[in-house]
Amino acid sequence: MNDAASVQPVAKYRKDYTIPSHTIESLDLVFNLHTTDTLVTATSMVTATQGATVLQLVGDQLLLKDLLVDGKSWSDYTVTEEGLSIANLPQSFELTITTQINPTENTALEGLYLSDGAFCTQCEAEGFRRITYFLDRPDVLAKYTTTIEADKDAFPFLLSNGNKIAQGNCGNGRHWVKWQDPHPKPCYLFALVAGDFDQLTDTFTTRSGRDVALEIFVDKGNKQRAQHAMLSLKNSMKWDEERFDLEYDLDIYMIVAVDFFNMGAMENKGLNVFNSMFVLADQATATDRDYLGIEAVIGHEYFHNWTGNRVTCRDWFQLSLKEGLTVFRDQEFSSDLGSRPVNRIKNVRIIRGPQFAEDASPMSHPIRPEKVIEMNNFYTLTVYEKGSEVIRMIHTLLGEQAFQAGIKLYFERHDGTAATCDDFVAAMQDASGVDLSQFKLWYSQSGTPIVSVTDEYDAQSKTYTLTITQHTEPTATQQDKQALHIPFDVELYRADGTVIPLQIDGESCASLLQLKQDSQRFVFENVDEKPTPSLLREFTAPVKLNYQYSEQQLVLLMKCATNEVSRWDAGQSLMAKYIKAAVTDGCPIQLSDDVLNAYRALLVDEHLDNAFIAEALTLPPHSEVSGWFDVIDVDGICQALKSLKLNLAKGLEKELLHTYQTLASESYDVAHQSIAKRSLRNICLNFLSCLPDYSDLAAKQFKASDNMTDTMGALSAANLCGLQSRDELMQAFSDTWSNDGLVMDKWFMLQGIKPSKDALAGVKESMQHSAFSLQNPNRTRNLIGSFFANPYAFHAIDGSGYQFAGEMLAKLNSINPQVASRLLDPLLKFARYDEQRKQLMRQQLESLRDTPNLAKDLFEKVEAALK
Ligand code: TRP
Ligand code: ZN
Repeated sequence: MNDAASVQPVAKYRKDYTIPSHTIESLDLVFNLHTTDTLVTATSMVTATQGATVLQLVGDQLLLKDLLVDGKSWSDYTVTEEGLSIANLPQSFELTITTQINPTENTALEGLYLSDGAFCTQCEAEGFRRITYFLDRPDVLAKYTTTIEADKDAFPFLLSNGNKIAQGNCGNGRHWVKWQDPHPKPCYLFALVAGDFDQLTDTFTTRSGRDVALEIFVDKGNKQRAQHAMLSLKNSMKWDEERFDLEYDLDIYMIVAVDFFNMGAMENKGLNVFNSMFVLADQATATDRDYLGIEAVIGHEYFHNWTGNRVTCRDWFQLSLKEGLTVFRDQEFSSDLGSRPVNRIKNVRIIRGPQFAEDASPMSHPIRPEKVIEMNNFYTLTVYEKGSEVIRMIHTLLGEQAFQAGIKLYFERHDGTAATCDDFVAAMQDASGVDLSQFKLWYSQSGTPIVSVTDEYDAQSKTYTLTITQHTEPTATQQDKQALHIPFDVELYRADGTVIPLQIDGESCASLLQLKQDSQRFVFENVDEKPTPSLLREFTAPVKLNYQYSEQQLVLLMKCATNEVSRWDAGQSLMAKYIKAAVTDGCPIQLSDDVLNAYRALLVDEHLDNAFIAEALTLPPHSEVSGWFDVIDVDGICQALKSLKLNLAKGLEKELLHTYQTLASESYDVAHQSIAKRSLRNICLNFLSCLPDYSDLAAKQFKASDNMTDTMGALSAANLCGLQSRDELMQAFSDTWSNDGLVMDKWFMLQGIKPSKDALAGVKESMQHSAFSLQNPNRTRNLIGSFFANPYAFHAIDGSGYQFAGEMLAKLNSINPQVASRLLDPLLKFARYDEQRKQLMRQQLESLRDTPNLAKDLFEKVEAALK
């Protein structure tokens, strides 16, 4: 075991990239699986690229048992802090290394570990080094064969990447299986699973007529809960053929659902491993949101087969090459199958809320980071979600056809290799002829650009001038910012709601403006009246928009904008106006009749998608509102949001009740229309529940519900509005579901976010619940993680919430640093709060910094925050 306690973790820089000293053509792995002492024998064919005679391999928590070169015992090596250094090697050789590892003790869930008795692996980003000494970097691509030997009764299924080529019995109650993956891959895509499962099988016939076996492995008794995942997988395979012209490339596609998993899912070649929350669903246990999440994540991992696996990343700084692009693809998949505007609204919320917050934090980084201490810290909203927005901007600038030509060229050039973000942009540019040289700054510049717009109407000349400036504030690690290439979509409206055709220099022009300078002027001609501009339509760029809209203009856009995203956006801006004023003045909110009427009109409009109406009525969360202020007034924002909600509830009472009653659910299915109805109905319930007259509605719905969406709709309303029935309903829920951790996660989450000062006591008590375990990332995130976002209790002014956070993080530091590091994020933002909270939060960070054996995941963030 390495003990890295005393050494300061070192950073790696993108600029220092060098090609690997050796290539590894093939890797033959043999696993002799035992729960506490597994033996791994790794035989690779190695060739020096530039004549090196020393090979440095990385390894972590490995016990070296044997080392052979060309079949002969080799003593010319040293075991170092980072791994193994082997000297005096020939140009090409066969290297055989045997290591011993302990899966039972592996609570970090990286490398080979046990999840509820089943062996599984997680190798991205740098987990393979916990299995064997290797060139654990994504630009070393090898062909793998994997032999797994284990006890036959306990582990009837032995799985790895590629195709099964042989199997047999060992005679001693043990058996073995051998797998071969024909596609060269980096080691982060390696996977092994061994266990006893229920297996749901199906087939997919590809466009070219090949049959692919589809197999989903779940805990015993859960087979029926994998049906939606299977449907989503088939839909993904079909969609990628139709929209991206991409076909699957193996004869088998396997998915294993495990309960202990650090993230959502992992795209290992031919053998995805999933967090069970993104596989298991049925009417009784999963919400509509869960169903949609499954569709998106199944799609995401499937799409990685081309964008990530066939073309992988040269180094981890290029992570957004595969993640940004694959998020873009999964967003398009969900939009093509469901509602495009509703999906867009949900994605915009993530960017404007948590992603902008990350940009403003001490860990702010470009979508292609320059400096990394712990790679796991860079699986971020910036790399994933902003990364996807950057791909979307390319799509907007090129159009679908040229974008697809770019994708085709990208695969022609880079299939089977490890590529860079520059390679991707070059393919897009070369295929389309669109100059992306300035655009590339989006990859290197961090922070959120602010686009400010002023306008002027000249009635005499009938011209309307937009002056648009852009500016990006310095971020933690980057002082100087340059002007970006920003696609900026606009429309102009007359007071009657009709659209004014755009004309510049005597010619009609497209709605997409291209911003490239610090400041630009656009003079529109033949504008017959002073217009209302609709700006940044469809959120064509991940920027903050500044324009002094009047209430009247926003009400007009809410009613008349030609696209739903703009209507929603106008509504959000209206809410923002009132919230900002209320927080600043400390007065309760009193919405004007015009505003109430605008919301009323949306609510009763039968032509609108119910799911869209639900989005329009959803208030911005506390976390997003916090980002609007230089100093966060925790309590003021709570008050303002409460007041706004109450105002809407009172003002729209009749319509809310009517909608609630008329949308009463029929038989349950997950068609978009049914999801939309439930979503709007539950929003209505949430508003009504804060009015005394309807305080029994939630309990009624809870008791009548035959599906988890309505159950949770009722329970959340009771929890959020602090209804009298709250505790009784929570108890009933726990009585029903206490044996199902995945369902209990919903209950834990409600305990964590309970909007009251006593939430901490509830959280501590919930930690004693039989379904809770700090070792399980889902449980921890739902209970502890949700509490860290609780403005009432986490931010309690006596510091009790922060102190609890410090204790939990210290514990998780030794159990699972990756999970700890994600939970830490709210504390990093301490500088944004009032003096008292700032000091209290800072104290916790300081004592964390002094924690013995602080993992580098936490070290990197704590250092950045305290600097
Ligand atoms: N590549 C995975 C995805 O985006 C995410 C991932 C990275 C991951 N590191 C992980 C998943 C560690 C689980 C554990 O789909
Ligand atoms: Zn991914």
